[in-house]
Amino acid sequence: MDSDEYLLHFKGYNFERSMIDIDFLENLEDFEIRDDDVFIITFPKSGTIWTQQILSLIYFETHRKQTENMETLDRAPFLEYNIRKVDFTKRPSPRIFCSHLPYYLVPNGLKNKKAKIVYIYRNPKDVITSYFHFSNFVAVLKGCENLDLFMHNFLEGKVVGSIWFDHIKDWYEHRHKFNILFLSYEKMKKDLKSAVQTLCNFLGKELSEDDVDAVVRQATFKNMKSDSRANYNDILKNEVGTKSEGHFLRKGTIGDWKNHFTVAQSERFDIIFQKKMKDIPLKFIWDINEE
Ligand code: A3P
Repeated sequence: MDSDEYLLHFKGYNFERSMIDIDFLENLEDFEIRDDDVFIITFPKSGTIWTQQILSLIYFETHRKQTENMETLDRAPFLEYNIRKVDFTKRPSPRIFCSHLPYYLVPNGLKNKKAKIVYIYRNPKDVITSYFHFSNFVAVLKGCENLDLFMHNFLEGKVVGSIWFDHIKDWYEHRHKFNILFLSYEKMKKDLKSAVQTLCNFLGKELSEDDVDAVVRQATFKNMKSDSRANYNDILKNEVGTKSEGHFLRKGTIGDWKNHFTVAQSERFDIIFQKKMKDIPLKFIWDINEE
């Protein structure tokens, strides 16, 4: 793909064009929210699929106990992307959604602070690394020859999700308007069990020790990678389309950026990060050995 035609620029934000229903977007602010809805919000490549799996396991016993054969995407569908056509009004409560929307485009009903939002964030050097590979893997995205070019587009917001800094800063600065929990990919990676417990506390779900263990077991990278209902392999191959060999669950670690960034690229990014994020006290973990 040579151009940026795959991006749909709508109300100051870039969507992936082919999976968007513009009428739905136009009416999104009035989309009816139920008190027990829960939203996973992320910038792309920050752990969306992982959190879909974790929340689905927390909420649905049939998933935890594997008594029902259903793909995670159907249990926790995207709000704004029609990967599958879903009539959300017919879905039984509690509904889990995931979304990459910026704070100002989400349905107004979320502002009554009853429905819950889990915002998952990841250190942006790993987001860039993951997104660079994903763009060269998935057919609907624009591939990039090298990381330098991808980083340029990322910093300019010429990617699905627009500018990473805006997404996280805006959500953080407007957090008081929502019932929202911020949790990092890296915390989930370093101690999945306590992350699951943090999520259960926030969501008001009381799971037994055995159930928490069942969630953790089925949400590890290794187990998700080998479970076709959890890893999107079939969805990517048969519905979205791919242009090279690869996996949605690629490396699943902290600090893979070190294998891809040059020292100069890393230093350049650090300067921008320090400037843009200086007022945001969220903790970022850049290295697997970091405390
Ligand atoms: P990598 O490309 O670095 O491997 P998203 O779902 O937001 O697109 O994020 C995808 C990233 O989350 C990929 O990162 C993927 O491997 C990682 N991921 C998915 N499931 C995971 C898990 N169970 N444990 C760790 N990382 C996971």
